[in-house]
Amino acid sequence: MGAGPAKQRTGDHHRGAAAGGVRAGPGGRWHPGPTLRSRAVTTDAAAEIAAGDRFAFGENWARFLEVLDDDRIAAAETSLRTMLDLPDGDELTGRSFLDIGSGSGLFSLAARNLGATVHSFDFDPHSVACTTELRRRYHPGDPDWTVQQGSVLDPGYLAGLGLFDIVYSWGVLHHTGAMWDALANVAPLVAPHGRLFIAIYNDQGTASNRWARVKRRYNQGGPGQRRAILAGVRAYEAAKPLPTLVASQAYYLAQHGRLRHLPKADVAPARGMDRDRDLIDWVGGWPFEVATPEAIFDFYRERGFTLVHLATCGGGLGCNEFVFRRD
Ligand SMILES: C[S@@+](CC[C@H](N)C(=O)[O-])C[C@H]1O[C@@H](n2cnc3c(N)ncnc32)[C@H](O)[C@@H]1O
Repeated sequence: MGAGPAKQRTGDHHRGAAAGGVRAGPGGRWHPGPTLRSRAVTTDAAAEIAAGDRFAFGENWARFLEVLDDDRIAAAETSLRTMLDLPDGDELTGRSFLDIGSGSGLFSLAARNLGATVHSFDFDPHSVACTTELRRRYHPGDPDWTVQQGSVLDPGYLAGLGLFDIVYSWGVLHHTGAMWDALANVAPLVAPHGRLFIAIYNDQGTASNRWARVKRRYNQGGPGQRRAILAGVRAYEAAKPLPTLVASQAYYLAQHGRLRHLPKADVAPARGMDRDRDLIDWVGGWPFEVATPEAIFDFYRERGFTLVHLATCGGGLGCNEFVFRRD
């Protein structure tokens, strides 16, 4: 992929978020408090977002918190259980969990619910505020869940974190602007025999290049252009399954003399996510890099990791998920 925007600068942007202030707005709508907002304009993340060089991930996550419910939390816990091969009843009690690029904070919450001691951090102050809000809602005053602002590209910050039994970074490292540096930076944070769980966008060659151009335009455009791009992508996504649907209905009609009853399609996506938030995150998600599963496998094998679980997106659009064990 072409080079993304300039690497994030390192520096003093890894503060605890608790003092930032999160509160329920009118009608119970949650939004980041004023302290965080004013603090945000002084951070590198905010400058990059304002320049159109970075998607406002955290603002998207703030809207996701409005639809978060117990079913989504349970789905997030199941996704951790499945990929970490945790049998039913086996918890993460006594294990440490580092959530890099925690976003909404949903997976930090899931890990904490499963008994892990959790450290969450994110580069975007609004994502930090979202994670802090989830801790306030579900584990108020919990000393075993730390939330900070920090960057996975900041070696000074990472050096102070220590080692973790599970290092989790789902859909993050390809959004840093320096994916291979980020992939290298997370390796030393995994304790011996610990797990590294990452998800990285699949390299689809020219299709990935096309999406990169859409994302770039989305971030550099004004609100009208963004709405138009989103509407175009929504229409494209809705129309994609149509030829298959028409063909299968024609076949069913010929066989049974009537159209087949179709189940409702609005089942929540895996991991407890929200379809609309996911679409916006996908269209806007910038910086954006991709990698083949082979490249990721080789990268970590050379660094003393063994692949223990793989879930690919079948060569299509989306993320490949990897769980490695540190030897
Ligand atoms: C697509 S979201 C994924 C959030 C979460 N991991 C999940 O699975 O839902 C990507 C997140 O990575 C964060 N991020 C991007 N660059 C980062 C960096 N250098 N260090 C830490 N977090 C970063 C973004 O702010 C955003 O919250």
